[in-house]
Formats: sequence, structure tokens, C-alpha cells
Amino acid sequence: MRASRSLIFLLPVISGALVLTPLIATGGDARFPTTRTDLNPKDRRRVEAVTKFTTDFTKPEQFEPMAGGAATSRAIVNGDAFSHFSANLSFEEEQTFKLGNALFKKLWVPPPSSTQASDGLGPLFNARACQSCHLKDGRGHPPEGSADATSMFLRLARPARTEDERKAVADHRKLNFPDSVYGEQLQNLAVQGLKIEGKMQVSYQEIPVTLAGGEIAHLRKPTYSATDLGYGPLESDVTRSPRVAPPMIGLGLIQAIHEADILAKADPADQDGDGISGKPALTRDHRTGDLKLGRFGFKAQNATIRDQSSSAFVGDLGISTPDHPSDYGDCTKAEVECLAHPTGVQPRLGAFEAPDPVLPLVTFYSENLAVPARRDVGDKTVLKGKELFYRSGCTACHTPKFVTRRDAGNKAHAFQLIWPYSDFLLHDMGEGLADGQQVGVADGREWRTQPLWGIGLTETVNGHTFFLHDGRARNLTEAILWHGGEAQMARDAFAALPKDERAALITFLESL
Ligand code: HEC
Ligand code: HEC
Repeated sequence: MRASRSLIFLLPVISGALVLTPLIATGGDARFPTTRTDLNPKDRRRVEAVTKFTTDFTKPEQFEPMAGGAATSRAIVNGDAFSHFSANLSFEEEQTFKLGNALFKKLWVPPPSSTQASDGLGPLFNARACQSCHLKDGRGHPPEGSADATSMFLRLARPARTEDERKAVADHRKLNFPDSVYGEQLQNLAVQGLKIEGKMQVSYQEIPVTLAGGEIAHLRKPTYSATDLGYGPLESDVTRSPRVAPPMIGLGLIQAIHEADILAKADPADQDGDGISGKPALTRDHRTGDLKLGRFGFKAQNATIRDQSSSAFVGDLGISTPDHPSDYGDCTKAEVECLAHPTGVQPRLGAFEAPDPVLPLVTFYSENLAVPARRDVGDKTVLKGKELFYRSGCTACHTPKFVTRRDAGNKAHAFQLIWPYSDFLLHDMGEGLADGQQVGVADGREWRTQPLWGIGLTETVNGHTFFLHDGRARNLTEAILWHGGEAQMARDAFAALPKDERAALITFLESL
């Protein structure tokens, strides 16, 4: 407890110091701007002032209810809470959003079909629509006893084996290497007449954990396997990383956070000695090959929403786009039966199964789902819980607020005070959460800090409270108790709180 108490006093000082000494903070990486290039000195000072961590927990902060700035949705809270467009879109943009929405929901069909514009699914796939996994624009869930693992899958990858491969990873040209037969993920569905690759199986073991005051919580430790393999065994050094579809809200705003603000929190070698490093994910833009800061996906492996979306088209649905022209999706050369199936390319419509403007429309949609307004920001228990969240050291990774860049491509995302509660950096989360899979600069124990905005509406939107990258946590308390590694101190601080204070911290999370 003592250690965590000192954190709150340290943190504002630390982040202030990092801004002043950006070279130390980023490990001297000269490839990215270390100060905000979009602001004049006066605005920079304003931004620094408004994003400073609060020390007053007696009342809400200014603009705190508007978690997504002017883009925040103030719609009545119901099951559609994650499906509204950003409140500050223009009328024309609303129309584009709606076209993108239709494509996000669209059920693709295998070729050849009579509904030619929907052709292209597969031959191997994990779902028929984006929305099948990003249920109601919210999160997926583990199978929970049913055979339906639709909103979740196993990513397959092996580390570099040769000097050349190691160089490719070091140079960020490759994140890792696919299984030579199964490719980058295990597809549990296939078009008619083709064998599926296999099924993800999970079994759980209950582990009791004693919290302060004697309360006993139970964590369920998952074990994953790939069964019913259709094409022989996986390669022996291939790891299986389980991933549940995350919520889709506020992504355009995350994309509009300035690199310098994310890098200012990075401390890969833990030079400030607070036990928390924070590594920036470096990755290449799929279209330009430029080195960028990764932000999307559980290992921050994608720099842009467009890259994440085109990867989803090809990997999850088996649909080619101009950015990923593979009509056979994730089929590999070894899967000859797969490559013998027809593709859904209609030369009349374009050279890809999903020709433009499909990808730009889906990307626009994915960039503009609104973050819902906070509830109960002034409630006494919520404020108490907020104080405990800060005091327990959660803010060392779950950075409360940012001001997005003034020169953001989309005006609706520009210069907004936003409250994502993430630093968008990679952290070692300990053995308990480790998937053993290296993805670019992220090693097998590292994960990107998950944003917490909207987390309190998970049950309202998705009817469950399964959290973390694989949905193993059955509620918020379990999600916190799984934190280890760099987050061990914060986890222990939480576990050491008296029961009513733990409950207050959870009530704060539920108001996000
Ligand atoms: C089979 C399930 C599935 C389907 C279908 C699917 N996704 Fe996803 N989506 C995921 C998972 C799992 C992740 C996390 C990815 C990771 O960490 O590797 C994700 C992540 C994302 C993200 C990044 C979110 C974040 O917080 O970083 C975006 C954007 C996205 N998906 C868009 C799409 C689009 C667009 C489609 C349709 C073309 C789609 N997805 C289809 C499962 C799915
Ligand atoms: C060292 C960095 C770090 C610290 C400190 C930290 N977290 Fe996290 N948090 C993460 C990462 C990384 C994840 C994603 C882990 C995963 O999905 O497996 C996460 C996930 C979560 C989730 C689940 C989010 C979701 O959408 O599934 C919750 C809730 C959460 N953290 C709350 C807290 C609270 C409360 C504290 C303080 C007691 C805290 N965290 C401290 C890094 C941190």
C-alpha cells in the first residue's frame, strides 16, 4: 500500500519530466516527433495543463462526462449505446457512416453466387460479417460451453528461425511468421466442400484468490488447444494466441492522438525506476511501408484503422481488398484444396472481392463510432473509486486523458479532450496473461493497455461481463486480479483495499 500511495504524488511529476526530456522517454528514437508539431507554444501549454492528472476528487473535472470530446454520444443508454455515430459529424459524413454500417453488418456469401456484389467469403473464414464478432459494435465473448466460438479465434505465429528472419523483425518488415500450413490464424469455418482448419477449444481451471478482509475471488485459468485439425499438425514452434473481438468505439480519436503524447509516456528501459516500462509498438503502414506507431489490436500491431480493417477482411472473412489483394484470404500454398475454389472477383466491379469503396467506407464507419457519455461522474462513490483508481497506480498505464491532434485528417477528431484511460503502450503483464506469442516488438508477455472508456456498458450492450483479451475474466474484479508483471503492484494495491473501497473502484469503472 505504501508503494502505491507514493505513486500518485510521483506520477504527475514523472509525466511532466518526460515531456521536458523526450529523448530519455523514447529511448532516443529519432524517427518520431518528440514534441507536438501541431500546436503553437501557447496551445501546447494549454494542453499540458488540461491533461495533467487531477488531484481533486471532491468533484468531477471539467468536461469529464464527455469521454469522447465533442464526438461523445449523449443518446439514451440502451443496447445500442456503442452504435451511434460521433455527434460532431457533418450531414454528409453521417451518410457515409451509414453506408459503412451496412457493409460492416453485411453477410458475405461464398462465390459464385447470384447476389454477386456480396461474393467473396472464404474459402476459409472465421465469420460472415464484421458485426458477427464485433457484436453490436461491442465485444465478443468466449464460447462458454457452446460450440459457438464466432467472436473469438486463435492467432497463429512462430518466431524468427534464421538470421534473415530476425533481421526482418528487427527492421519491422515482419511482425512474426505464419504456420506454413495454417497461416496466420485458425479458421474454424470453410465454404462447402472444403475442410475447416480446426476448432479452438478452451478449458478452465478455477484458482481461488484471497483478498483483504478474507473475501475469496475465483479466477479461471484457461488452456487453449486447436482440435479437429484438417491439414495435419501445427508446426512445433507455432504459438496460439486467443483473441476476443474488442469494442469498436472511439477508434478514430485514438488514431488522432499525437505520437509525441504516447511516446512521452514510454519508458522501455524503466529509466525512472517505477517498475513500469511501457514500450511503443512500431509497425509499418501496410500501404506505404512507412514506420509508424502501432495502436490497434491487442499487441498494437496495426498503426491505422484501415490496416486493421483490411487485415480483418482478408484474415477473418477471406475477402480481398486493394490493400490485401489475396482472394484466398489466409489459405496457404500447402492448402491446395483451398486454392482450387473459385474466387469472388467480379471483373465488372473491380479487381478485388471487395473493390473500392468498400474498404474506405468500412474504415470510415470504424473510425466514427461514438464513445458514450459518462454516467454518474459526480456520484460520491464514483469519485471515491476514481481516487482509489489513481491511488492504486492504475493511471500509470490507463492514462486518463489526451487532447487529440489539431491537424487530424477528420475534423471531427481534431483537438478533442478525450478520456480513453490507456497509454497505448505495450506492457509485460506477467506469466498469467502471457500468450507466448511475439508480435513485432511485443513479446509473449506484453499487451497493449486496453482503453477503459465504455467498459461499464458492456453488460448493457453485450449482455455479459467477460473481459481481457480472451474473455477469461467474468467481471471487472477478476480482470484486475489477472494483472501481473508491471501491473503487479497496482493489482496488489487493489487486492489490499478494504472491501467497500474495492467496490467503490469497481463502481468508478462501471461509470466509464
Ligand atoms: C472472427 C472475428 C472477427 C471478425 C469477423 C472481425 N473482427 Fe475485428 N477484431 C477481432 C479481434 C479478435 C480483434 C483484436 C485483434 C488482435 O488483437 O489481433 C479485432 C480488432 C479490430 C479492430 C481494432 C480495435 C482496437 O481496439 O484496436 C478494428 C478496427 C476491427 N477489428 C475492425 C474490423 C472490421 C472492419 C471487420 C470486418 C471487415 C472486422 N473487424 C471483422 C475479431 C473480428
Ligand atoms: C502496467 C500497466 C497496467 C496497470 C498498472 C494497470 N493496467 Fe489494467 N490493463 C493493462 C493491460 C495491458 C490490459 C490488457 C490486458 C489483456 O487484455 O490481457 C489491461 C486491462 C484492464 C482491464 C480489462 C479491459 C478490457 O477491456 O477487457 C481492466 C478493467 C483494467 N485493466 C483495470 C485496471 C485497474 C483498475 C488497474 C489498477 C488497479 C489497472 N488496470 C492497472 C495494463 C495495466
